[in-house]
Amino acid sequence: CRREWIAVDGPAGAGKSTLARALARALGFRYVDTGAMYRAAALAALRAGLLAHEPIDADAVVRLVKRLDIRIGTEPEGDRPAPVYLDGEDVSEAVRSLEVGQAASAIARLAGVRRILAGLQRRLAEAGPCVMEGRDIGTVILPEACVKLYVTASLEERARRRARELAADVPGAGDPGGSEAGVEAVMRELARRDRQDSSRETAPLMVAPDAVTLDTTGQDLASVLQRALAICRERL
Ligand code: C5P
Repeated sequence: CRREWIAVDGPAGAGKSTLARALARALGFRYVDTGAMYRAAALAALRAGLLAHEPIDADAVVRLVKRLDIRIGTEPEGDRPAPVYLDGEDVSEAVRSLEVGQAASAIARLAGVRRILAGLQRRLAEAGPCVMEGRDIGTVILPEACVKLYVTASLEERARRRARELAADVPGAGDPGGSEAGVEAVMRELARRDRQDSSRETAPLMVAPDAVTLDTTGQDLASVLQRALAICRERL
C-alpha cells in the first residue's frame, strides 16, 4: 500500500476536516479537501443558472466544470478551511453556505463531474504525501492508501457543530452556538445530504472494507487525533 496517502472519509459535519488538517500538520503532509472542489464547481453551476430547475442538465454541468480552473490551498494552517479559487477568484467564503453544500451534493451525483475532479485529486496525490478528505477517497480515489479513516458522529452532534461553524462565519451573527431553530434546519439539511451522498450510483459514501471507523461523538480533537496517530503508527 502507499504510505504517503491517508484517506479520510465520512458524512458532513463529522469532524473530518478538523482531524484531517491536524493529522496533516502532525505528519508534515499536505491537506487536500476534495469537498472544496465539489463546492467550487457547484458555485459555478449555481451562478450559471444550471441548477435552477430539476432535473438538472447533466451535460451542460459537465461541460461547464470541464472549463473551470479550480485550485485549492494544501497547507494545513490553523483551523481555517483551505482557500479555494475558482478561475482565479477567491471563493473560500462563498463556498461554505448551506446552499452551496446542497448544490455540491447535487452535482456530485454526476459521473462526468466526478471523473473531472477525480483527475485533479489524483494529480495532487501523485505530487507528494497528503491527507485527503472526502466521501470516496478510500474507496475510489486512493484505494491504495495504507491508512483509511472513516470519521463519523451522531446526526445531532454533527448538526450542532455545523450550525456553530455557520454562525461563526457570518459576521455579527449573534449566538455562536447556533439557535435551536438553526440547529434543526442544519440537521434536516445534513440528513438530506447524507441520504443523497449514500444512495447515489457513482462513488457513494461508504466505509472502505479496510477503513478504521472513528466515532467523534462527545470526543474532543485531542483524543480523536491521538487515536488516528496510533492507527498511523500501526499501519505506516
Ligand atoms: O465535505 P463537504 O461537505 O465540503 O462536501 C460537499 C459535498 O461534496 C458533499 O456533500 C458530497 O456530495 C460532495 N463530495 C463528494 N465526494 C468527495 C467530496 C465531496 O461527493 N470526495
